[in-house]
Amino acid sequence: MTSLAIMEKATQYELRLADRMSRLGTETAFEVLNKARALERQGKEVVHLEIGEPDFDTPSNVVDAAVDALHKGWTHYGPSAGLPELRQAIAEDVSRSRSVKVTSDEVVVVPGGKPIIFFSLLALADVGDEVIYPNPGFPIYESMIRYLGAKAVPIRLHEEKDFGLDVNELAALINDRTKLIILNSPQNPTGGVLSRQDIRDIADAIGDRNIMVLSDEIYSRLIFEGEHHSIIAQPGFQERTILLDGFSKTYAMTGWRMGYGVMRPDLATHLTRLMTNSNSCTASFTQIAGVEALRGDQSSVEHMRTEFQRRRDAFVAGLNRIKGFSCRMPKGAFYVFPNITKTGWKSKKLADALLDEAGVACLSGTSFGDYGEGYLRFSVANSQENLTKALDHIDQWTKRYL
Ligand SMILES: Cc1ncc(COP(=O)(O)O)c(C=O)c1O
Repeated sequence: MTSLAIMEKATQYELRLADRMSRLGTETAFEVLNKARALERQGKEVVHLEIGEPDFDTPSNVVDAAVDALHKGWTHYGPSAGLPELRQAIAEDVSRSRSVKVTSDEVVVVPGGKPIIFFSLLALADVGDEVIYPNPGFPIYESMIRYLGAKAVPIRLHEEKDFGLDVNELAALINDRTKLIILNSPQNPTGGVLSRQDIRDIADAIGDRNIMVLSDEIYSRLIFEGEHHSIIAQPGFQERTILLDGFSKTYAMTGWRMGYGVMRPDLATHLTRLMTNSNSCTASFTQIAGVEALRGDQSSVEHMRTEFQRRRDAFVAGLNRIKGFSCRMPKGAFYVFPNITKTGWKSKKLADALLDEAGVACLSGTSFGDYGEGYLRFSVANSQENLTKALDHIDQWTKRYL
């Protein structure tokens, strides 16, 4: 059958999707990437500052460990919660880095950081429950909350607070229906980092209420000023925290698909059942490489961090010289989030124009929620040369059109 014939046949039947599919959002970064690739196929040059992944290769010791594991036969199903050795390595790593005592039965290994968001919400959020999430923030939070029929309650991040939240606003949003609060530090898209005091204030606002916190710490090793602090170490919060971290950003392993959650053992059992029902397990040979990533040489992590910091410094300085742009220095992750209100353009329109007319792919702040209006997000996980080129192109464009 030709493809046309297949299409014609398919159109005889209405696609009867489940209602919930109308509530499922997306991650605009992938859409902009596709549009940018289409422009490139037409012969246009595009600098890619839209996608959030390190431009470095996975460290060679980790790649070698995976190849070795494949040769040794780590090609079979493994336990749904993850290989015991990796769960143990993660428990030790998190115990050390967050100053808490974590045991391996509190660890669930999954294919990437995203499944921890999905599974935590699946396990905890009923229809009508309220979930508080940062806005602007990683779009998958709102997408998944709404998909499950829970109520998405945004907590605004404020530029003048270095993209931290106002704890009084948080306190005002918490009520008897609040089931879960999502925190993210270092933050995507703003690069904001919660200080020790911020974490204490948030813990105080939650008090002893029976509310779980999903603490998304996927950028925990990408901090440029200060230290990483996690709510899991606050007194009384280990039982109420699901800590999300993973290998994608820290070890430049986005395509490997490996992340983990740390949570109380009873909840870990339920997330493990969700793994059994969905993925069976995370790929076994990648988990062997994960042990090497955590226990082996860490110099590439530090190298990437210093390199991102150098690029951040240069890119923020360059943006601040461009008409209509003003940009704070982000303290973590590899994103910069300039305020563009003085250009007089709306974020989405400006992001589209920069792609179409200046050949620079970035994301509208509104891809991260309504409170992202007035901002753009650029990823600095690209070469210094490309970042300079992007600045030149944006500068020329603004001189022509603003
Ligand atoms: C805040 C945040 N959480 C989670 C993820 C998902 O990470 P992964 O690619 O490991 O699923 C990302 C990826 O961009 C992110 O920015």
